[in-house]
Formats: sequence, C-alpha cells, structure tokens
Amino acid sequence: MDLPPVGLGTMGIDDERVVRTAIDAGYRHLDTAQIYDNEAVVGAGIDAAAVDRSDLLVATKLWVDSLGPSAVRPGTAASLDRLGLDAVDLLYVHRPRGDYDPEETLPAIEAVREDGLARHVGVSNFEPEQLAAAREYVDIAAHQVEFHPLYWREDLLADARANGYPLVAYSPLAGGRVFDEPVIRDIAERRDASPAAVSIAWVTSYEPVVTIPKASSRAHLEANLAAAELELADAEIERIEGIDREEELFPE
Ligand SMILES: NC(=O)c1ccc[n+]([C@@H]2O[C@H](COP(=O)([O-])OP(=O)(O)OC[C@H]3O[C@@H](n4cnc5c(N)ncnc54)[C@H](OP(=O)(O)O)[C@@H]3O)[C@@H](O)[C@H]2O)c1
Repeated sequence: MDLPPVGLGTMGIDDERVVRTAIDAGYRHLDTAQIYDNEAVVGAGIDAAAVDRSDLLVATKLWVDSLGPSAVRPGTAASLDRLGLDAVDLLYVHRPRGDYDPEETLPAIEAVREDGLARHVGVSNFEPEQLAAAREYVDIAAHQVEFHPLYWREDLLADARANGYPLVAYSPLAGGRVFDEPVIRDIAERRDASPAAVSIAWVTSYEPVVTIPKASSRAHLEANLAAAELELADAEIERIEGIDREEELFPE
C-alpha cells in the first residue's frame, strides 16, 4: 500500500470538525477502529470534507470480539454502516487475541475483501511468529505497531522490510510523553523545531515506516503533517535510538 508519511490517528476524536479540518489541511490517511467508538464521527468528517472519497485511505480495525469466523462479515458491515462507506481501504485485525484464530479469522477477512468490503488487509500488534502464520492466509498490506522514541521494535521493522509492507507507527508522540524526554528536547532546541516534530521526523526516517499522530487543533494537525519534511542527521537519529526504552504504552 502506498500510505503517506503522516496520517491521522483518531483515537479520542469525537468531533467530526477535527476530521474535516485534517482532510482540508492535507491528511489523506485516516485511521479509526471499532473500539474507538468514533467511526460515525470519522465518516461524518469525510462526508463534510471537500475531497473525493477516492483520494482518501480509510482504515478501521476489527476488535477482538469481531474476529470469530461468523462475526467478521457482520462486524465489517457494521463498521461500514457507521462510516457511511461502501468499503474501507484497510481492514485490520486490531489485536491477535479474543476470538482471533488465524486459520478461521483470516480466511473470513479475505472473503470480505474479495467481496469488495475492504481493499486491503492489515494486522496490528502482532509478533513476528504471528505475522509469519498470518502470511499463510492473507497478503499483509500493513502492520500497525507502537513506535516512538520511548518504545520501538527492530524485529518488527525487519519483518516489514523483509516482506515489503509498510509499518504504521502508532502513538508517535507516546501520547505526549516524548515532550519531556531530554534528548528530544535538546535536538528540538538545536533545530528550532518542536519535540513533536522531532519525534515524527525520527519515526518517519525509517523505511518503510509511516505514522498516524492524533491531534485536535488545526495548529497541531498542520505541524504534524509538515514534520515529516524535517530531515534529521544520522547522528541525531542515533542519539534518539540511544534513549533508554520504556515499557509499551499499550501492552496486551
Ligand atoms: N493499533 C493500536 O492498538 C493502537 C493503539 C494506540 C493508538 N493507535 C493509533 O495511533 C494514534 C495516535 O496515538 P495516540 O493517540 O496514542 O497518541 P500520539 O499521537 O502519540 O499523541 C497524541 C497527543 O499528542 C498531542 N499532540 C499532537 N500533536 C501535537 C503537537 N504538534 N504538539 C503538541 N502536542 C501534540 C495531542 O494533543 P491534541 O489532541 O490536543 O492535539 C494528544 O494529546 C491513535 O489515535 C490511534 O489511531 C493504535
């Protein structure tokens, strides 16, 4: 999939005007999920924006209780109904747990894809062995994982590189926790940039990583879109790689 470097994460967005503003500001990749309880808000924002549906990449995720073989189709249909769309561009398995069983879940998702309800299948929060098992049933079009200066995984990056799909970095600002990180702050000051911009520039400096920061104000939305244009030097990238890693924000 050809995803732009920066898309919109919508977890916590409950106002369609934010989605519309983001699209007007230039966002083309919109990421929601059943569990965010805002697919209708995202759909209303898409509907209100002055951009053709065909120019947008809309992703949603089946929650763990929609992964049983007989739940996939009605779950997908319900998401499309809330979004007001005929199809999503990317339909993810949100987490490989609950009713997830690769042998049953993935053929069911592949069937809804073949019927045109989704253009591509993605996975999220998978381990390398789970990715390998999933590849027996679907072409993985994207893997969405936690990836920011305080937590990231080389093994998942390596799998994306080896198998040729984009890694979609979620929580690139660690929900705001990167703003107090001394290395990030120092690089930001030297560059006359914000810590948010440095974090997004660092995340998107890796091939094939794209990201989906969540933002609410027009100023944050525009700044995050522009951040991918900030080019960090190798030494700056390595300094950020040297930050002590913390626990995941979103463990199982
Ligand atoms: N697949 C999964 O399991 C999973 C798990 C977690 C998240 N996600 C996805 O990843 C997306 C992003 O992750 P996240 O929501 O956890 O956090 P995030 O994008 O790391 O951080 C969002 C926070 O940073 C603030 N912010 C954004 N841009 C800023 C800027 N330029 N300057 C200062 N502050 C800024 C936002 O404030 P304002 O809103 O006030 O602008 C918000 O409080 C989610 O929305 C969701 O789509 C996926």
